Amino acid sequence: MERWAGRVALVTGASAGIGAALTRKLVKDGMKVAVCARRLDRLEALRDELKGEPGAVLPIQCDLRKEDEILAMFEKIKVTWGGVDVCVNNAGMNRNAPLLSGSTDDWRHIIDVNVLALCICTREAVKSMQERGVDDGHIININSTLGHKVGNFPAFHFLMGSKFSVTALTQGTRNELKGLKSHIRASSISPGIVKTEALALSFPDQPELVKHIHYSTKRMEADDVADAVIYALSAPPHVQVEEVTVAGTEDE
Ligand SMILES: NC(=O)c1ccc[n+]([C@@H]2O[C@H](COP(=O)([O-])OP(=O)(O)OC[C@H]3O[C@@H](n4cnc5c(N)ncnc54)[C@H](OP(=O)(O)O)[C@@H]3O)[C@@H](O)[C@H]2O)c1
Repeated sequence: MERWAGRVALVTGASAGIGAALTRKLVKDGMKVAVCARRLDRLEALRDELKGEPGAVLPIQCDLRKEDEILAMFEKIKVTWGGVDVCVNNAGMNRNAPLLSGSTDDWRHIIDVNVLALCICTREAVKSMQERGVDDGHIININSTLGHKVGNFPAFHFLMGSKFSVTALTQGTRNELKGLKSHIRASSISPGIVKTEALALSFPDQPELVKHIHYSTKRMEADDVADAVIYALSAPPHVQVEEVTVAGTEDE
């Protein structure tokens, strides 16, 4: 990770879970990390926690469903640190919204965050890299094992559709970068079940189910996924880690 010290990363959805864990690792490796989410207080607490580490944190409140807020975030990063060298599209969400009974509002929310925001951030990050002649930048999309295989879990079927999109969009990004003869890399990191707040947001009225899924067997922690991101990022510039799947040994 030495070559990334002093460089700028954006981590979306860093107020919790995998995004917060990854931010801690990147800042300890000396990166300047712009972090975004809706809960600014949590981002500021993360910045305060990491004071004294080699890197730095720039908290930015941003609702990724709103393009104007995303564009303002990129402008703030440009003004503060010059631009983005690494973009980790980590923010993601799910609602229990099966295909035959879910609400259109829930589906739209999932698509806006998991798919559209990821595309807007990727476009703006690559634009920022190109403006500054950065040819070794990196786009990292936090996907899911559900982005590769459709199991029979109705609460997750729409989520699977959004994550299959992430698989296609990551390859599409690689294709377009290759077309430009760019060496900017794009990676997909696909976790299985991770003990974060995400599951409780899918099942807000079923805490016992969430507890059972998280604690009935050994599950991955956010740090385990952050380590997979660090692996992709720290590969030498001529190596493109295309896909990393990490799942718990006891996942179903
Ligand atoms: N946990 C798992 O089992 C699992 C498995 C496979 C893949 N993943 C993927 O891993 C990624 C991270 O998930 P996690 O488990 O760490 O989830 P998490 O703990 O629920 O964190 C989600 C993050 O996304 C942010 N976010 C959600 N909606 C947002 C919006 N509209 N605007 C800005 N930020 C928003 C949240 O911040 P605010 O609420 O403060 O806005 C939070 O920081 C997601 O892409 C998820 O699909 C997770």
